[in-house]
Amino acid sequence: MARKPIIGGNWKMNTVRASAVDLATSVSRDAADALDAGVEIAVFPPFVYLDAVGDSLRRAKSPVLVGAQDLYFEQPGAFTGEISADHLRDIGVKIVLVGHSERRHVIGESDDIINKKLHAALGAGMRVVLCIGETLEQRERGETDAINERQLQAALRDIETKDMADVVIAYEPVWAIGTGRNAAPSDAQAAHAHIRRVMYELFDADTAAAMQIQYGGSLKPDNADELFAQPDVDGGLVGGASLKAADFVAICDAAAKRLQQA
Ligand code: PGA
Repeated sequence: MARKPIIGGNWKMNTVRASAVDLATSVSRDAADALDAGVEIAVFPPFVYLDAVGDSLRRAKSPVLVGAQDLYFEQPGAFTGEISADHLRDIGVKIVLVGHSERRHVIGESDDIINKKLHAALGAGMRVVLCIGETLEQRERGETDAINERQLQAALRDIETKDMADVVIAYEPVWAIGTGRNAAPSDAQAAHAHIRRVMYELFDADTAAAMQIQYGGSLKPDNADELFAQPDVDGGLVGGASLKAADFVAICDAAAKRLQQA
């Protein structure tokens, strides 16, 4: 069976309450064709607007998923400022980003923390988008596959095969995020194919074949077609272009086109 493409809109530290609700409303309305075609769509607003965005999508009976950009791995307790999996579940959040490059490289999150966050989210019954990817220096040293493999091994330590059905992988080369410089489709394909091989080695053939692997990094309406045409690219995680409903929906439509061609 063909894998469903999944498109995520990572709004990062952007939007205010009214623009967040507006953006989600426009996406759910204008992406109806892509949703009907079988594309999965998720938006990831800032924590403080999850409830408002989730409510507006529920009221519209929209299948667009509302997701969180992060979570903390501990059980509820004395962790000032953090948000637990229980909090997210309580407000109907069913999908969460873990290990985004800005968490790794700006906030300084370690592989060990990312692994704990994966366990916490999956343990709470949520889906996880696990983000991985190499820096420019690592790419120039020819280490792309080795870095992806190391990040996967570390993040997925002690995760059971059955739980992998709730994991999506987002391959986001750090040098492509927010730079306007996307990976060449053939380079993205090579990295995705290697990630799928690692899934086979760490888990099994079924897990590898079913794994949705998104591309992320300067994904735009004008490069989505050629990236999504690659056999191992199953949609994308979109930052900048997800803040404009028309651009985000155009990317969702590009993913739908691939399904129709399959
Ligand atoms: P970008 O961000 O599309 O702005 O490059 C992608 C991401 O960080 O998920």
